[in-house]
Amino acid sequence: MAAETDALEPEFHEIWTPRLRLRTLRVADASALLGLISKEEVMRWTSHGVVTTVEQAERWTKDRALGKDVFNFAIELRDYQSSDTVQRPIIGVVGSFHLPEAGYMIDPSYAGHGYATEAFSAVLPQLFDRIPRLSEGGLGYDHVEGWVDAANTRSRRILEKCGFTLCEIVPPKPEHAGAVMFGKARPGGKTLEELGLLASPADGVRSEAPTPPVQ
Ligand SMILES: CC(C)(COP(=O)(O)OP(=O)(O)OC[C@H]1O[C@@H](n2cnc3c(N)ncnc32)[C@H](O)[C@@H]1OP(=O)(O)O)[C@@H](O)C(=O)NCCC(=O)NCCS
Repeated sequence: MAAETDALEPEFHEIWTPRLRLRTLRVADASALLGLISKEEVMRWTSHGVVTTVEQAERWTKDRALGKDVFNFAIELRDYQSSDTVQRPIIGVVGSFHLPEAGYMIDPSYAGHGYATEAFSAVLPQLFDRIPRLSEGGLGYDHVEGWVDAANTRSRRILEKCGFTLCEIVPPKPEHAGAVMFGKARPGGKTLEELGLLASPADGVRSEAPTPPVQ
């Protein structure tokens, strides 16, 4: 059975930062993620509602772990004293499952320590390395997008700290605060302006954020 499960899992990657270990998100993480993705205060800012059952968690995790363009990581604390039998707790998720969008979430018990910024800034260079260039056959991207609920001030700050620029505004509706898109151009390539991503007031605004947005 284990071999069957492993066959479904994505190729393993690991990124170490000063305080974190990022390792490929696996379908097998579904149960461990339930504590995070069942929290209303986390999920209200994402494209998905609160996840309440293991079955829903499996679906949620599969969507974010499997697929040709998926590059998503479980965030763990680097210094957690793990043993072979005890896995480090997953404190968040970072990466992309729907290019060119990318995003992150951190468990509220670990928020406010700069972990999301540290994780996202470590994933971005590798994400750019993996995304085919727009110029190569026209199928890739020369930028990454972060879509954020307009009221999600904390997440907007993270994108700014990671070098993203405000590109688009989707206006609020009675039931929604509106959304904003921040973009970051591929380092060493065309600028956001050259890529036509910096909307001028004359371009108007989008009426809808894309579905699904980040994480
Ligand atoms: C948003 C979220 C990822 C933040 O994670 P985190 O690890 O606490 O983020 P960081 O600590 O790296 O950065 C938070 C920054 O926002 C700042 N900040 C905190 N509260 C703030 C507030 N109310 N207003 C403005 N900035 C705020 C912090 O000061 C910090 O900036 P600083 O390092 O310059 O001081 C986390 O709260 C979360 O997962 N929320 C729910 C899911 C979500 O919103 N995901 C993003 C969807 S696009």
